[in-house]
Amino acid sequence: RELPPHVVVLFGATGDLARRKLLPGLFHLFMSKLAPPMRIVGTSLDDMDSEGFREIGVKACSEFSSRVFTPEAAAEFGATLTYVPQGHGAEALAAAVREQLDVLGREARMLHYLSVPPKAAMAVLEMLHEANLVKRSRVIMEKPFGTDHDSAVALNASIHQWFKEEQIFRIDHFLGKESAQNILAFRFANGLFEPIWNRNFIDYIQIDVPEKLSLEGRSHFYESTGAFRDMVVTHLFQILAFVAMEPPTALAPGPIGEEKNKVFRSMRPLDPHNVVRGQYAGYRDEPGVAPESETETFVALKAEIDNWRWAGVPFYLRTGKSLGEGQRIISIAFHEPPKSMFPDGSGVGQHGPDHLTFDLADAFKVSLSFYGKKPGPGMKLDKLSLQFAMQDTDSVGMVLEAYERLILDAMKNDHTLFTTAEGIERLWEVSAPLLENPPPVRSYDQGSWGPNAIHQLIAPHAWRLPF
Ligand code: BG6
Repeated sequence: RELPPHVVVLFGATGDLARRKLLPGLFHLFMSKLAPPMRIVGTSLDDMDSEGFREIGVKACSEFSSRVFTPEAAAEFGATLTYVPQGHGAEALAAAVREQLDVLGREARMLHYLSVPPKAAMAVLEMLHEANLVKRSRVIMEKPFGTDHDSAVALNASIHQWFKEEQIFRIDHFLGKESAQNILAFRFANGLFEPIWNRNFIDYIQIDVPEKLSLEGRSHFYESTGAFRDMVVTHLFQILAFVAMEPPTALAPGPIGEEKNKVFRSMRPLDPHNVVRGQYAGYRDEPGVAPESETETFVALKAEIDNWRWAGVPFYLRTGKSLGEGQRIISIAFHEPPKSMFPDGSGVGQHGPDHLTFDLADAFKVSLSFYGKKPGPGMKLDKLSLQFAMQDTDSVGMVLEAYERLILDAMKNDHTLFTTAEGIERLWEVSAPLLENPPPVRSYDQGSWGPNAIHQLIAPHAWRLPF
């Protein structure tokens, strides 16, 4: 069935996420005709007119879109953009949105995208209610959803005053990555790996997302968020659920949400002794950062899932800013053979155990590393690898970026790749001991892999990265 036209109301329209991802994503959906006809009403705390916003939108697409961006495309996309300052109030917003709804006709729906920090979300929801823009609308809520358990519960309660659950899409863009969906395909569409996907065969798992990027002008957001809330309680835990969950009964929002929630329910509350918090040297000198800031720009931790499949298998998670490389990998380490017949010095075990590695780049990549014989006399062993990279195939042009995929899914009313209220609330519960008792931040050098304590955290194992 064809999708009805949409007015996308973008809150936080001049912010970093809007410029880097949302406007370029909407641009691609619009030009590729994957999305229905649409108009975009931007709003934010900045005072500007539609002309000013068009300039921002077009510049954002030319700078950040990975798609071909011609002057004709810029003009066509620019014509869909209008702007109303949030400070002008609910009535002005209502008038601006209604004008665009009239352009698109009676069938048109609204998609409100709240690209705003958690503390601002409540006021925006109230404004939508006041502006009478709730009916025939859906709302996408950005992460982090709340800042702790109580605020997430309060936020859920306040949305439900005005929106029905089926209208709400809590986004976690990592779940929209092709590579995240491929974890589901890989695990549940093949018979090969699922039988060994448990504590009997798997020794430990790493979900490692170091970033080279630093604050990128987001110090205000980052100071009050930090790496744990920005990345771990959201993206890394959601990915952990895809890796750890039981097979759902169907590829549908209910069954997938339920299996993920079971994982979250089985997670042990985080022990602050199993967490390393770091801050890169120089962070406190960044504009907008407090001179005594204790905000972490790095976090590494051990998570544990107390269920039959995973008891005793540690999940090591790491992410941070200004690190040595930008990577996003999930690495599954298999048990080593119980006994080796290979002589000392043959090289067996020298490069760690065999691993299955998912690369969460936009285009899916998976590789299996294993020991094989080095050619030549004797029996010397080396780490070999089997791999598949979507990048090398003809299908790479079909890859949708995460936000594109998820905005389209929300227009289609498909909740499969969104998070659930229950899951989010439970993850804040799991995180509570750490949030209440955070270990002190340790300094690390920019370009490094984090504070030294990360090695004790993972011992006797080792971090896979850098490769
Ligand atoms: C965002 C975080 O949600 O994810 C950023 O706020 C982070 O700090 C980004 O850089 C990483 O996303 P991706 O898709 O580039 O890996």
